Amino acid sequence: MYDELKKLYDSDIYPMHMPGHKRQEGFGQIKNALEIDITEIPGYDDLYEPEGFIKDALKRAAELYNAEHTVFLVNGSTVGILASVFAATKPHGRILIARNCHKSVYHAAALRELKAEYIFPSQTDGMFESIDPKEVEDKLKSADFDAVIITSPTYEGRVSDIEKIAHICHEHKTALIVDEAHGAHFGFHERFPKSAVGAADIVIMSTHKTLPTLTQTGLLHVNDEYYEKVIDYLQMFQTSSPSYLLMSSIDSCLSKIRESGSKLWEDFFIYRDAFTRRMEDLKHLKYIETDDPCKIVISTDESSIYATELAERLLNRYHIQIEMESAAYIVAIVTCNDSKEGFERFADALLKIDSTLLDSKDEQVSFERFAGLLHTKAQNNIYIYPPGIPIAVTGEVIDESMIEGGRIKDKRFID
Ligand SMILES: Cc1ncc(COP(=O)(O)O)c(C=O)c1O
Repeated sequence: MYDELKKLYDSDIYPMHMPGHKRQEGFGQIKNALEIDITEIPGYDDLYEPEGFIKDALKRAAELYNAEHTVFLVNGSTVGILASVFAATKPHGRILIARNCHKSVYHAAALRELKAEYIFPSQTDGMFESIDPKEVEDKLKSADFDAVIITSPTYEGRVSDIEKIAHICHEHKTALIVDEAHGAHFGFHERFPKSAVGAADIVIMSTHKTLPTLTQTGLLHVNDEYYEKVIDYLQMFQTSSPSYLLMSSIDSCLSKIRESGSKLWEDFFIYRDAFTRRMEDLKHLKYIETDDPCKIVISTDESSIYATELAERLLNRYHIQIEMESAAYIVAIVTCNDSKEGFERFADALLKIDSTLLDSKDEQVSFERFAGLLHTKAQNNIYIYPPGIPIAVTGEVIDESMIEGGRIKDKRFID
């Protein structure tokens, strides 16, 4: 494995994907891994009952994000979501889930044997938009729910009005959990959206996605009411040997942010703005504006290729690996550790590919091999990864739109 990974590092493939450190030195980087790779030993504190230097690091993190309590995650947002859903619900309780949530939310609901209802964010060109607070309100008026869980920002960088949604939830005495896995950088620069911390009861972040910290690192911010329960469930779901290397990676990164503030993103915005300006020259591909500058979304809907082909060309011809492709668009993750050259290579490649395209594609795509699945019930969650949003959740009836576009169109599929 090491040889393969080193080969990738030595190649000229540029990572327009997570982890946010982009395999480049920078803040939050731990160079000599073995030197500091320990887990709990006497004198070095305990993640689940912190009293020493972990407690201090968590306090610093909570202050930075203005959270009542902050906990380090060493198994990604996945474990934070499992613990949060368990902390905020009773066994067999009711939960309101935004249908574009990550698979970990569905796993949590299944493990807790919850009765789940959905909110359906609208979709534009297959992309989920933000959550309509009115829809949350209508659902909460119709029944009692232990918790509401939504994803903001979405994979494509759409942000919901968390303050409004939190207000509605709290009026109905319902906990609000926000999966902010893609928003660990929120609030650190005036051009980044506001974080859900402070408004929602529990907020989960993958620092490894948009900040330069090691893979699997994350943060969970929680108010007093749910803190003890979250810790109890984290102990059940997360490793009993938390990696100090991972925790230290988060702490160094946050220290650097605390010291330097928004200056850390000065160069990033210069490169990012130059990239956006160049996208004005696209003729067939379409640059999609999103709320989060750390996401670049390019639609292939009005061009002669599918997004999968665009991703292949970017990799094979231009040696650029993007974060994900759906049926109609690609998503790249850009962070403060991206170089000017990285942004320029990406813009050059997109413009060159664009110059070879036409206005429309041959829509003759055959889905016959899936015909046997039509109108049957999904036996498992079915999803493309990334993003890991189920196209069909176990028990849902499979419909043409799910097969043809991988799209979740409306509510009539729910069984
Ligand atoms: C919206 C969302 N939530 C949660 C997760 C899980 O995060 P992690 O990989 O840190 O466990 C992901 C992963 O891609 C995600 O996209």
